[in-house]
Amino acid sequence: MNEPIVSVRDLSIRYRTRETVTYATENVSFDLRRGEILSIVGESGSGKSTVGMAILRLLPGEADVLSGEVNFEGRNILSLTEHELRPLRGRRIAMIFQDPVAGLNPVIDIGSQVAEMLTSHVNIGKKEARIQAVQILRDVGLRDPERIAKSYPFQLSGGMCQRVMIGIATALNPEVIVADEPTSALDVTIQAQILHQLDQLRQERGTAILLITHDFGVVAQMADHVAVMYAGRVVESGNVRDMLKAPLHPYTHALLGTLPRVDGAHSHLRQIPGHPPEMTEPSVHCPFIPRCSKVMNVCRQEPPPSLSRPRTATHEVACYNPVWQSLD
Ligand SMILES: Nc1ncnc2c1ncn2[C@@H]1O[C@H](COP(=O)(O)OP(=O)(O)OP(=O)(O)O)[C@@H](O)[C@H]1O
Ligand SMILES: [Mg+2]
Repeated sequence: MNEPIVSVRDLSIRYRTRETVTYATENVSFDLRRGEILSIVGESGSGKSTVGMAILRLLPGEADVLSGEVNFEGRNILSLTEHELRPLRGRRIAMIFQDPVAGLNPVIDIGSQVAEMLTSHVNIGKKEARIQAVQILRDVGLRDPERIAKSYPFQLSGGMCQRVMIGIATALNPEVIVADEPTSALDVTIQAQILHQLDQLRQERGTAILLITHDFGVVAQMADHVAVMYAGRVVESGNVRDMLKAPLHPYTHALLGTLPRVDGAHSHLRQIPGHPPEMTEPSVHCPFIPRCSKVMNVCRQEPPPSLSRPRTATHEVACYNPVWQSLD
């Protein structure tokens, strides 16, 4: 079997500010393999971006990694020195953010920003970098790349800026791309084009992509595997087709229950009554209990269940009382 290129193990991260403490992720584990798109899906605040940032070690100062590892080719990224990290970040593992405009420097022209990415990692002169930058802009499907190279971010649309960001992220052919809601700031047609571009990268270069989204429609269309997060925990994980057909966790079931069509562009997550917990303390029991229709005594007595594959299932779930009912 294809070895994982990124292997996240038992990752627990807490944010501590003067006003709040948030246990943003608890014991998160998953594997990302070459040429695979793994989606992390979950409601706002479930810890998706925290996981994505941890992989590139881009967490802000108020974040503490309480436990866990992010293994990349057998090395734990979380314990590397800045010096050891530099050749990896941006070059071998790259990130694409939700807001492409904010990711670009407003006062530097696009061509220089792409060229800067090249000169900071590869030993080439400024002139050569500029020529390659124009080619990169052409490769991501931007028409008239010479003109774009001379433009500033405010002169481009959101979709064009996101293409530039993809160009920068993929310029050095990274093995891993973490894409955090890369299309949620864009309108639907542009969304489809950007997703298509990511899919092509995976197919042509075998790039492994961690695609963070709150949209199960995107998951259904793009991902091979999916990890569902709820209140900082992965509650279900497996092959996309299996999970969409027969979700096991009551949360996933509730989310997917009223999806009109999983392959449709207008699949909206169902509103589940109640709210996710505040996450101000580590969870003693399963955090979904207050919203769960299948609670049993064991759920209130035991610690949150860990992910495991029930004997008759094809994927993993963290639940004492999974749902055995397919959706169709
Ligand atoms: N810098 C921070 N300081 C304090 N708390 C934070 C910080 N960043 C995130 N959090 C909290 O950590 C939790 C997880 O946040 P995170 O951004 O990882 O969620 P998310 O799943 O990416 O949400 P969204 O879908 O809204 O992007 C949330 O409760 C959030 O308020
Ligand atoms: Mg986020």
